[in-house]
Amino acid sequence: MKTQKTPVTGRFDGRTVAITGSAQGLGLAMADRFAAEGASLALVDVNETALQKAADELRDAYGIPVSGTVVDVTDSSQVNAWIAGIEESDSAVDVLVNNAGIIRDNRIERITDADWDAVIDVSLKGAFYCSRAVFAGMRARGYGRIVSFSSMSWRGNFGQSNYVAAKAGIVGLTRTLALEGAREGITANAIAPGLIETPMLASMNDAARDLLIGKVPMKHTGDPSDIAEAAAFLASEAAAFITGVVLDVDGGISIGSSIR
Ligand SMILES: NC(=O)c1ccc[n+]([C@@H]2O[C@H](COP(=O)([O-])OP(=O)(O)OC[C@H]3O[C@@H](n4cnc5c(N)ncnc54)[C@H](O)[C@@H]3O)[C@@H](O)[C@H]2O)c1
Repeated sequence: MKTQKTPVTGRFDGRTVAITGSAQGLGLAMADRFAAEGASLALVDVNETALQKAADELRDAYGIPVSGTVVDVTDSSQVNAWIAGIEESDSAVDVLVNNAGIIRDNRIERITDADWDAVIDVSLKGAFYCSRAVFAGMRARGYGRIVSFSSMSWRGNFGQSNYVAAKAGIVGLTRTLALEGAREGITANAIAPGLIETPMLASMNDAARDLLIGKVPMKHTGDPSDIAEAAAFLASEAAAFITGVVLDVDGGISIGSSIR
């Protein structure tokens, strides 16, 4: 832990940041970033062991309050109980990061009902359940930041119809939440990461990896800290006039020029 490249500020002093899917990967990188900037953290994941380890390490590293709760974001009763628990404990969710997501890639003929449902349920329904659960409190307090995870794939990607539908759905959900919260100090934005150095990318063979990286105008992958930086900005008070956007954090891969 304590992996921050940039100077630490107190941008999130006194703020509670709730992050789904935060036991590993981008969720954990964002938790580290928000903790470094003074936030109290409410972390959830379905991987209990990794979640408790992450929560313990962040608490020790930064000396900030961190709760780690096992919540399956596809279950609205678990989500509602989690948020109600925070709001009843003299705290409030100032920032919600809808990060949990899974992939079950296949061509359309081979995607099972279960693969379709699982991907939509975690990414899209989970984001809906969590956003709905925090919205009334944010509205009542006149302040809120919702940052949800789309993907560069949201525009369409071979072999990912379930994932693309979920990630395009995040764009529509975000733009609508932005309208519904606009008069009460609530912003809603999405991040569309490109190729980020995560275990999934590392597990690819060299040829497939090189082919993908060759499509990135910057010719390299992103680091989880690049995503954390973007999330922290969108979640900050400074981003007050930015709402309903999809921020590509992808080294330019989404620009789409054929001349590279
Ligand atoms: N890694 C990338 O390059 C990349 C690119 C584009 C978009 N994204 C998106 O960013 C987000 C994070 O990606 P990542 O690479 O860190 O993923 P990851 O698989 O490393 O981590 C996802 C976390 O979500 C948790 N999770 C899964 N189902 C859950 C559920 N039902 N309830 C609660 N938690 C659950 C997992 O246990 C895991 O800890 C995802 O939404 C993903 O689609 C990632």
